[in-house]
Amino acid sequence: MTLRLVATLLACCLAIPAFAPPVSAQPSPAPQGVGWKTGGEAAAIERRIDGLLKQMTLDEKVGQLHLSGRGDGFDIEQIKAGRMGAVMNFVVPAEVLTVQKAARATRLKIPLIIGLDAVHGFSTYFPLPLGQAATWNPALIEEAAYWTGREASAAGINWTFAPMVDISRDPRWGRVLEGAGEDAYLGSVVAAARTRGYQRGGVATSVKHFVGYGAAEAGRDYNSTWIPTSQLFDLYLPPFKASFEAGSMTAMAAFNALNGVPATAHKGMLTDLLRGKWGFKGFVTSDFGSITELRLHGIAKDDAEAARKALLAGIDMDMMGNVYHKHLAGEVTAGRVPMKALDEAVRRVLRVKFHLGLFERADVDPAAAPALMQTQAARDVALKAAQDGAMLLKNANETLPIGATVKSVAVIGAMAVPEDERVWTDPAGLGRRVVQALPEALKQRLPADVSVAYEPAFTKACGTEFADKDAAVRAAAASDLVVAMLGEDCEFMGEGASRTKLDLPGVQQELLEALVATGKPVVLVLATGRPLVLTWADAHVAAILQTFHGGTEGRAAIADILTGKVNPSGRVPMSFPRSVGQIPVYYDQLPTGRPQKIRQRYESIYIDEANEPLYPFGHGLSYSRFTYANARVSKPSMPLDGTVEVSVDVTNAGARDGQEVVQLYIRQPVASRSRPVRELKAFDKVLLRAGETRSVRLRLDAAKLGAHDENGRYKVDPGQIEIYLGGSSQTSVMTQVLLTTS
Ligand code: BGC
Repeated sequence: MTLRLVATLLACCLAIPAFAPPVSAQPSPAPQGVGWKTGGEAAAIERRIDGLLKQMTLDEKVGQLHLSGRGDGFDIEQIKAGRMGAVMNFVVPAEVLTVQKAARATRLKIPLIIGLDAVHGFSTYFPLPLGQAATWNPALIEEAAYWTGREASAAGINWTFAPMVDISRDPRWGRVLEGAGEDAYLGSVVAAARTRGYQRGGVATSVKHFVGYGAAEAGRDYNSTWIPTSQLFDLYLPPFKASFEAGSMTAMAAFNALNGVPATAHKGMLTDLLRGKWGFKGFVTSDFGSITELRLHGIAKDDAEAARKALLAGIDMDMMGNVYHKHLAGEVTAGRVPMKALDEAVRRVLRVKFHLGLFERADVDPAAAPALMQTQAARDVALKAAQDGAMLLKNANETLPIGATVKSVAVIGAMAVPEDERVWTDPAGLGRRVVQALPEALKQRLPADVSVAYEPAFTKACGTEFADKDAAVRAAAASDLVVAMLGEDCEFMGEGASRTKLDLPGVQQELLEALVATGKPVVLVLATGRPLVLTWADAHVAAILQTFHGGTEGRAAIADILTGKVNPSGRVPMSFPRSVGQIPVYYDQLPTGRPQKIRQRYESIYIDEANEPLYPFGHGLSYSRFTYANARVSKPSMPLDGTVEVSVDVTNAGARDGQEVVQLYIRQPVASRSRPVRELKAFDKVLLRAGETRSVRLRLDAAKLGAHDENGRYKVDPGQIEIYLGGSSQTSVMTQVLLTTS
């Protein structure tokens, strides 16, 4: 399901009277964090599962693997008959209560696991996950997930289809907005933080999409992926591993075929690796209807065979496919699926339900739920995340922050003022419009004598057609500074929104050029779901502030940065290409035998384009200026299982306090395999007062400096390691450490 659909679902459903305000404002109970229990508790759970399995009929067992969703065709009778173990897309507490009560009233009283794509918020919206990754602030990212989990759990939901941890190097793919960008290390840190946060907030995570979905060929959604084993293990699998190590209780399989085998029937990944090597004890759900899609992938002649292949490969739950429900009992009876295999899948589902505490957990109290929605604490986190994730990509002549000489500002673009359907309804029923419009937010922050005009220019946020272009250009021409808020919205981003052109959609570029032609300085504020090609803008506008839709507090955060109340500190989590033809463009490429030296023929270059992205991974400007010096290691060498402390002196040479993301990259120039020109291995976001110098210390474990070979074997090679420290993947000071065999 697309994000848009979920957003609409939430916006509409949370407004219905069933979610009325509480009679009294009782303090809300903190949610119970969830996670794996250990020792005696875990053993007792296995005994309870044994007991249940002995009592369950074949239909009841299959029922536990059947995930159905709110909407047309949903049949509560199936719950009452013990033939549905999981539901999704219920968001109204009273409705959640109804379905859960129906499950509890069954013969075996097995509660439902209740799932939702609570991807970047439930009632309070945080920046899109890619925008959260841009904060490079794991503690903050964890808090955003915590509040999402906490709000969802307060509505009775106990399972989220998140985090999405698919690495992607292809911004043509519309779903890059749901991930953490291009890098395995940043992606792993974010995956772990989000997993911890959600589960502390009370919902089990379903880390997705296992595996390789982000590598869809040519960036076309659902397309096949071809990933060499070494790259699978070094790049695509680490964020999943990090999420499981952080306790993720479930996983979701991907839609795509991985190296010719559909992920939904990939025994090598689902069973041999996940359950075997990694020891994962939770369950795996299919993606939406992906079991029946095995027919279309061409590996099953009918749904019965699809069901059999998926189950035997390791898919425990059928999301919205109705295929297990219809065919699994028959496959077992016919002896094509061993009862033992079915029991194992049921065991994994029941295990998660027990570890989640669902059998004991009190049901949702619809009257109490609203008090936990959009609390000030959640909104504070949303604001901080939107502030920390906004990336200043260009700032010529210190156009920003808006200076004292600016007496009039023209805000242009319908995206500056949220459209009605984009205003997240306040489920507490307090009538509070939590999304601030940008003109209003600027007005509040600028001195009283500065005028702020607003012209939408377009009929709707995504700028597909003009409402009144001339009025927008006139307003720009009459102002000292133009703030154009443009980007991608509506149908241009998210699932199923793959693009071959990464320009501003619709007629937005035409408007931008007209605004620039007025001769007034133009600040381009972007809200997109992916890195766009900003080459023209970079050459012509005065400043660029990039956000990946900031959520409930997004425009307030933008106003904070434009006016200098907040010093920008977001850093690029995914390289911005100069042109679509550069894709895939990413920082940790392997060296070639023909490196770019003087840009002549027979070097690995384009004859019509630079090699480098427009904005590299890790890049982001600040109103401060940071300098690096004195990179050093605590010892010159370490064994292959050793640790070294790396330090660097970072100075805020600017006039304002500011946050810097200190990034540590390595390179092993000589090893048994060719190794990337740079690899992120550690980072820290630090606040430095104006003029302050701080010695920032980062730890490097030798065991994490290796790579996988084409058989998936991991190896750390002895030899010299170059260590680069700086504020992006391009700028740095250097030190070294020697990896030794003894
Ligand atoms: C998406 C999943 C999502 C599911 C349920 C699918 O189309 O790929 O990420 O969790 O729908 O909404």
